[in-house]
Amino acid sequence: MPFSTRLLTWFDHHGRFDLPWQQNPTPYRVWVSEIMLQQTQVNTVIPYYNRFLRRFPDVQILANASLDEVLHFWSGLGYYSRARCLHKAAQQIHIEYENMLPKNLEKLKQLPGIGLSTAGAILALAYEERYPILDGNVKRVLCRYYAIEGSPADKKVEAELWHLAEQLLPHTRIAAYTQAIMDLGATVCGRSRPLCSQCPLQTDCVGYQQGRAMDLPVPKSRKVLPIKSVVFIMLQNQNGDIFLEKRPAHGIWGGLWSFPECATVIGVEEKCMQYAVKQIQQKHIWPVMRHSFTHFHLDITPIHIFVEVDIKKMVARPDILWYDLNKPQECGMAAPVIRLLAQLNLPKFQLF
Ligand code: ADE
Repeated sequence: MPFSTRLLTWFDHHGRFDLPWQQNPTPYRVWVSEIMLQQTQVNTVIPYYNRFLRRFPDVQILANASLDEVLHFWSGLGYYSRARCLHKAAQQIHIEYENMLPKNLEKLKQLPGIGLSTAGAILALAYEERYPILDGNVKRVLCRYYAIEGSPADKKVEAELWHLAEQLLPHTRIAAYTQAIMDLGATVCGRSRPLCSQCPLQTDCVGYQQGRAMDLPVPKSRKVLPIKSVVFIMLQNQNGDIFLEKRPAHGIWGGLWSFPECATVIGVEEKCMQYAVKQIQQKHIWPVMRHSFTHFHLDITPIHIFVEVDIKKMVARPDILWYDLNKPQECGMAAPVIRLLAQLNLPKFQLF
């Protein structure tokens, strides 16, 4: 029996059918889910996805929303350029395609944030078009099934995997097949403990036959990540509000709200004076917290400073705010900022 038939028969009995983006899989709903799932696990994505779709149920509503609000609904999910691209692409789809995602690989690929695999997933899952996908799950299944030597991060290996993914496609039930291969990769052909005895592809899986399923795919050579450090200055004024500033549009956490920063604790007091601080009342240095990015670790030293500010000298600017912990405002924040605000330990603090 062909690969795809076995996979589909397995899917009918053991696949996942209750994921929110599988209910009413419109191109818009599939697109948002695929972007959220790009670097994030299904279980993490589900609550974010549901909240996002409740607030932005279609392309037009997303296109007309402010980036700030979109980032607010993405807060904590990480990789914020995904949210910026999603918003920008929604605006393009609104203007150029009358709110309809194009049913065309080239046009989809030209939209911000949509690569070849995401375009394939949208076409296959929402439009039943015969296109392959190649996300991490699919790469793992194929690397094992064909016992591919070399890392899928290698360009030549990746090209070979695309070719194989295309060859294996069935001519019918393409959406189910696409979901099936992802489900197999996520549930049976998992990274660390593949459940080969439950796999519909076991009989001709070369990796299994060679007893190497566990060792494939070959991991890419891991570089030791550099460590950067920063001081987060958490100013709390006489009203209990916390000072936040909007980060520049580009670079890490672009467009998100965060605490003022300093390279070391030595520069903190001088920096405070920039924010109409009249007097520093108390200063507490908190334990270092590590936040890891793809290319480096960031060691954050939070410093909590109670200050008295000169209200008269404070200028209203769109890129600064005194954040009221009792009335959280809608603004995008990175995970460590959310965590620190929560730790500032005001009982009424709520994320949403
Ligand atoms: N990962 C990427 N796309 C997915 C999907 N549609 N379902 C489950 N996991 C996924």
